[in-house]
Amino acid sequence: MKIYAILCVFILTNLSLFAQERFELDEKTEKKINKIISELTLTEKVGQTCQVTLDALLARDESGKLLDPIQFDPAKFNEALCEYRIGSILNVSSHTLTLDEWNNILPKVNNAFLNKKINVPIIYGIDAIHGVNYTVGATLFPQEIGLAATWNNKLSYEFGEITAYEMRKTGLRWNFSPVLDLGRQPLWSRFFETLGEDPYLAGELGESIVTGYQGSKYDFLDNYHVASCLKHFVGYSMPQTGRDRTPAWIPQKFMTELYLPPFKQSIDAGAMTLMINSGDLNGVPGHANKALLTDLLKDEWGFKGFTVSDWEDFLMLETVHNVAGDQSEAIAMAINAGVDMSMVPNAPQYKEYCEVLLKCVEDGDVSIERLEDAVKRILRVKMATGLYDKKTYKETDYSEFASEEFKNSALQAAQESITLLKNDNAILPLNKSTKVLVAGPTGNDLTFINGAWTHSWQGVDDSYNTQNCETIYTAIAKKVGEENCQFSQGAELVLNDGWETANLTDSVDFKSKAANSDVIVLCIGELPATEKPGDIRSLRLLEAQSDLAKMAYRTGKPVVLVLVEARPRVIHDIVDGARAIFQTYLPGDYGGTALADLIFGDVNPSGKLPYTYPKYDGVIEYYDRPKSVDRSGKTNKFDAFDPEWEFGFGLSYTEFDYSNFTIDKTKMTRTDSIQVSVDVTNIGDREGKEVIQLYLSDMKASIVPAGKRLRRYAKIDLKPNQTKTVKFTINSDDLQFSDTNGNWKIENGQFQLEINGENLNFELN
Ligand code: BGC
Repeated sequence: MKIYAILCVFILTNLSLFAQERFELDEKTEKKINKIISELTLTEKVGQTCQVTLDALLARDESGKLLDPIQFDPAKFNEALCEYRIGSILNVSSHTLTLDEWNNILPKVNNAFLNKKINVPIIYGIDAIHGVNYTVGATLFPQEIGLAATWNNKLSYEFGEITAYEMRKTGLRWNFSPVLDLGRQPLWSRFFETLGEDPYLAGELGESIVTGYQGSKYDFLDNYHVASCLKHFVGYSMPQTGRDRTPAWIPQKFMTELYLPPFKQSIDAGAMTLMINSGDLNGVPGHANKALLTDLLKDEWGFKGFTVSDWEDFLMLETVHNVAGDQSEAIAMAINAGVDMSMVPNAPQYKEYCEVLLKCVEDGDVSIERLEDAVKRILRVKMATGLYDKKTYKETDYSEFASEEFKNSALQAAQESITLLKNDNAILPLNKSTKVLVAGPTGNDLTFINGAWTHSWQGVDDSYNTQNCETIYTAIAKKVGEENCQFSQGAELVLNDGWETANLTDSVDFKSKAANSDVIVLCIGELPATEKPGDIRSLRLLEAQSDLAKMAYRTGKPVVLVLVEARPRVIHDIVDGARAIFQTYLPGDYGGTALADLIFGDVNPSGKLPYTYPKYDGVIEYYDRPKSVDRSGKTNKFDAFDPEWEFGFGLSYTEFDYSNFTIDKTKMTRTDSIQVSVDVTNIGDREGKEVIQLYLSDMKASIVPAGKRLRRYAKIDLKPNQTKTVKFTINSDDLQFSDTNGNWKIENGQFQLEINGENLNFELN
């Protein structure tokens, strides 16, 4: 290898980007909160724990339809705020609102407190999960799974900051985000809301997002930041059936090693609130799990903020989980387990909730101390988000809303997320004089590249799409000129009896346009969907889309396959026929532009898969599998691990050479650390970004060790011929594993480090 230039950079990726402390308020504020609580009536205390959906307070016409534009029904509004003294409102009505519409709603909520109609301000929560997706015109980033594919902490932080800024412009201060559930069950409809399969990657990126939302302070937020809400604590993402809100069984060892760490890391970084898992874990409903919510989260981890239930989940303890005989038992069970606020959230149920909880306290089924603890936690967040501070209602400058700078950040996130999975004979990048047919159901529609939670819950209503954003087709047409770019849908995705189906549509049109083109960019994927409506019965790509791909291959034209999908759908039968394949995940409003930039080489791909892409419908594998997974019954070799693409995989238009992989010692003690160093050189002729991934394997342990675990990563930018030295530090904490009871353990012995397929061994003694 020839090194033309050597540039050393010291990237201490093990030092967290943001050194923070847990969310905690000073003594003076705590006293103030105690005083406020001492002056509240029991009704007010109970009301603080009650969260109601906006719809329940809105005016309707005689047919029951919401008025347009929406407005509060004064009687419902007064009843909820002044009679039941509710503490929180959430959500948007059926679709996204303009800034003006929000401005018509939110000040009324704030004014109720400012004008002394109520004694405690209301906290308003929203799912701004990939940008402020319920405010028209806001900057929309890739969904979390795409953000994870950037492996870029700084971009994740920027996503958080920009989202917080635009929330504050809208008048909102509490974001039900990020999702820190791990993406290890690809059937699950909310896979795209996760940061992928690995706890270290999810932990680092999750912390970056939380810090972006909340800012660098860990107590009082400034006017540009919002409270985060980590969700869904914990185990929600692993339903055995694959269907949303169904049971998860996770052994304690894997709770400790995999599912809990991302939550713990973000709580240590100051996260203020946390939402509970709607399903049940090891037979215990998330909302009745005292061991997790009180003993672990609050007592052991010292969480000072509040926990909020998920949608109707108090009710469900009786109606779905069958662990409570009636509402009274359900409510007492959840509050006593440690849930502080109930997303009831409809009317008249919220009234019943308040009445029943009040009676539970009077009867002693819920102690007044527990109720006051919940209220104290809620008030801490209300203080910290400035809701008590009248000054913060003054005009603040939010002129950056939807600015070019914000859009560029979302564009960069999309560019760095989209992952090149195949590029046979370097067919890409394409020349801009290529005649292109863009085809497929996801090729010319912004709703597909945004996915669910965009302008509406399921994200299928396109009437509120952001103006002036490119679809994949229009973005490619911009690169090659409209005269050189055609579109043919070829297949459609539609709901049939609630289930996603695909049909071939206009084959004649498709074939004739293909005949006039040099290359086919075939865009396939999934209908936007989440939660129960997003349940599927098979991971396989719907057949009509595979048929369309095969029809495209039969034309003899080179096909660039573009996946626009919320989870990895099995596409094995169409991988070979494609000359190039991109995984775009759900790249957001700037995804079309980003993909076109990548296809034509204006930007070099740098996304890496944040999950193991399955090859077969019935085989789910993870990168950190124990060795036994590799053993094949057919060949008797260790070659059974057989995904379509591995975790961390992604191609570039340039090549990187790794050299001088060294460690500063081959023996370490429990108080030592090991310095790891590697040189990475760009040996191609284009600038490019590379993600350096450091894995660690425990060669022998008293219980089956993971095959390997990601311990550090760094994303660097290299010009042609440039070399950078990347350094990591490994501590003894990185050598820990959990025993079967969920306790961390370290054992002496041999360990192996791996970077880019090369290994180095060291010993702990
Ligand atoms: C989802 C949560 C979401 C909440 C409020 C629930 O159905 O599970 O993730 O934050 O609704 O919209």
